[in-house]
Amino acid sequence: DLAGHDTYMHKEICEQADAVDRVLRGRIEDRFSTVHLGGLNLDAREARAVRRVKILGCGTSYHAGMIGAQLIEELARVPADAEPASEFRYRNPVVDPDTLYVAVSQSGETYDVLAAVQELKRKGARVLGVVNVVGSAIARETDGGIYVHAGPEVCVVSTKCFTNTVVAFGLLALHLGRIRDLSVADGRRVIEGLRRLPDQIAEMLRGEDAIRTLAKEYAHARSMMFIGRVRGYPVAREAALKLKEVSYIHAEAYPASELKHGPLALIEPEVPTVAIVPDDELLEKNRAALEEIKAREGRILAVAHRRQDKADHTIVVPRSEPELDPILMGIPLQLLAYHTALELGRDIDKPRNLAKSVTVE
Ligand code: M6R
Repeated sequence: DLAGHDTYMHKEICEQADAVDRVLRGRIEDRFSTVHLGGLNLDAREARAVRRVKILGCGTSYHAGMIGAQLIEELARVPADAEPASEFRYRNPVVDPDTLYVAVSQSGETYDVLAAVQELKRKGARVLGVVNVVGSAIARETDGGIYVHAGPEVCVVSTKCFTNTVVAFGLLALHLGRIRDLSVADGRRVIEGLRRLPDQIAEMLRGEDAIRTLAKEYAHARSMMFIGRVRGYPVAREAALKLKEVSYIHAEAYPASELKHGPLALIEPEVPTVAIVPDDELLEKNRAALEEIKAREGRILAVAHRRQDKADHTIVVPRSEPELDPILMGIPLQLLAYHTALELGRDIDKPRNLAKSVTVE
């Protein structure tokens, strides 16, 4: 049921305020400025013994895991990283008993993720799942985890599940943080930030008309660059993937600092750049990258907390807690990919060559 939308992609983008509300519902414990995650099956002593977190997923879920790893490092101060599940499987990884492994998947059926889970279990590791589809193979094979509660996602291209997965990682990071060194005040600050998200998402979605206009402006690009730093980098990667999948425009994502190490050679008027520029401690560094692009006559679309004078256009997003910026900054770029694909007459819900869940190797 499309409920008045022209595609599932559009419907699912527009459902995100409600979806985020669902992933938060019943999980916040204000009294202790923490969260309660019923299905985690990891008691406080076990959680405190975790020395490292390794997140495994594919495609968009891998990108959500990259942000998840940053959230866990920032809020819980536990070293964490994300890796594509297939790469992990094929490099005969060292499986460490003090590492908490987390498998991320919308469908819960992605073969590479499932096979990584099975391999880890064979080697005695503890594996949690961050999964959307209840009762799916990965949900069943993991020792516990968090359901993402995004609701059914029909479009091949993942949108609302990405956002909800990142929020679910925010909850996990908060939980791990609050049984370690995260203060009550910081716990409360992040909780308040999470609570504001649904309204802020709704506010951004009301700005869709402006993004439709921008999509017309950029739809005929030969290729597009997406850049960001630290928190902005996974956002850039996910936005580039979204654009590729639905519009078939070639897109590359780089950490902004890597531009001058090679990709700057590609910059010209026909190759615009989308830059993720939050008002955080890296703002000045990001501005320098915008100057480098302008000096090569590159067009720039910034996603920022305020208008960027070096950019040709800025999509202004609401301010959040800095750790949560990636959640809000991703959303207008989903709309940009959608409207670009619409402008180019693409088959939005079923892009060529792609399947909703990849259950083969
Ligand atoms: O169901 P999963 O989250 O495990 O799927 C992983 C990827 O196949 C998926 O995210 C894919 O990249 C989507 N087409 C992204 O839009």
